[in-house]
Amino acid sequence: MSKSVLLIIGGGIAAYKSLELIRTLKKVGIGTRVIMTKASEHFVTPLSVASLSGEKVFTDLFSLTDETEMGHIELSRSTDLVVVAPATADLMAKMAQGLANDLASTALLATDKPVLLAPAMNVRMWHHAATQRNIETLTKDGIHFVGPNPGEMACGEFGLGRMAEPAEIAAAIEKLLYSDARPLSGKHVLITAGPTREPIDPVRFISNHSSGKQGYALAEQAERMGAKVTLVSGPVSLPTPPGVTKVDVETADQMLAACEAVHAPDLVICAAAVADWKVANPATQKLKKNDKAEAPALSFAANPDILKTLSNLKSGRAKLVVGFAAETVNVIANAQEKLKRKGCDLIIANNVSEGVFGADKNAVHVISKDGVENWPQASKVDVARRILELCAGRLK
Ligand code: C5P
Repeated sequence: MSKSVLLIIGGGIAAYKSLELIRTLKKVGIGTRVIMTKASEHFVTPLSVASLSGEKVFTDLFSLTDETEMGHIELSRSTDLVVVAPATADLMAKMAQGLANDLASTALLATDKPVLLAPAMNVRMWHHAATQRNIETLTKDGIHFVGPNPGEMACGEFGLGRMAEPAEIAAAIEKLLYSDARPLSGKHVLITAGPTREPIDPVRFISNHSSGKQGYALAEQAERMGAKVTLVSGPVSLPTPPGVTKVDVETADQMLAACEAVHAPDLVICAAAVADWKVANPATQKLKKNDKAEAPALSFAANPDILKTLSNLKSGRAKLVVGFAAETVNVIANAQEKLKRKGCDLIIANNVSEGVFGADKNAVHVISKDGVENWPQASKVDVARRILELCAGRLK
């Protein structure tokens, strides 16, 4: 769902920059509903604000229509963030005291949402003991600030008090709006997905039914949660999720080499269904049926265990390594044994006898050294998100 802010425009010369702020937010898909103080109407008009925001502008605490359509309480709560720009010395003083005698101050007192102030005032007003006291009170109350910046002021003086630029305020807004939703920002996540293909000869191979859906859902959600994502994928028929770097591989050996080439990921999730065995000596030419139609004798060799290898790296091991366990019987006991044998931190286990391959839903058990969590059936996308939220918590 797209985000929206309630912008309160205070009465100061910097109010003209709030028009640019509304435009900047619109460009990044953030909607703006605006309250203007009486004083702000001396600097910008409700008509120009309404034209840019595309919404009715609220100015009057006692307007009957506004109260029936949308009261000040509703106005201050049906938003994700309240932004005051410019935040004048007067508005900040009112907030610090808990005064509520107009629509702006009433909404600020009634809101249950985070509040961001972009102060703008004369340098002496900013440094005045009363203003500094109010800032201290507001900071203690959990109010966020962006700016003010130093520079020349409209009044001709020089110093701290210029309102932050619209782009800077927009960046602070995005950070507050999306910090909860992007718990993996700054992290590099390596994900393996899909089956591997082990050649018998140039035209035949051994593989399995993995669709890659769970691994791709993990990659897509990890990217949305702010991570840099490298997806090492066996052959599947799924589109590459936007923003994800995909490395295509076929065999387990290639998958391991591609994973080892990724420099120091923070989180590794092995969701690929890697073939346990490969044909020891795949034929370089197509195997021919002979007259007696005798089947060729294939001999097998073990494939590298990618999860085990990445879990036991001597240098550059990811802080968190997660594996999957597809089981048909004794799901939890087998997964607990796998956790120990592979040396990973978490195993996501599911019962594949229940038709998980290629399905859109999954019911998993999460196994770690701390115990077992049984998660109810959910879409693979929701399971992916929940796994990543759990990992983000452990990466903190
Ligand atoms: O040993 P098993 O195949 O049951 O373990 C499953 C887990 O190990 C999965 O996370 C899978 O991606 C990973 N695995 C691997 N390399 C292998 C075999 C399994 O990374 N050769």
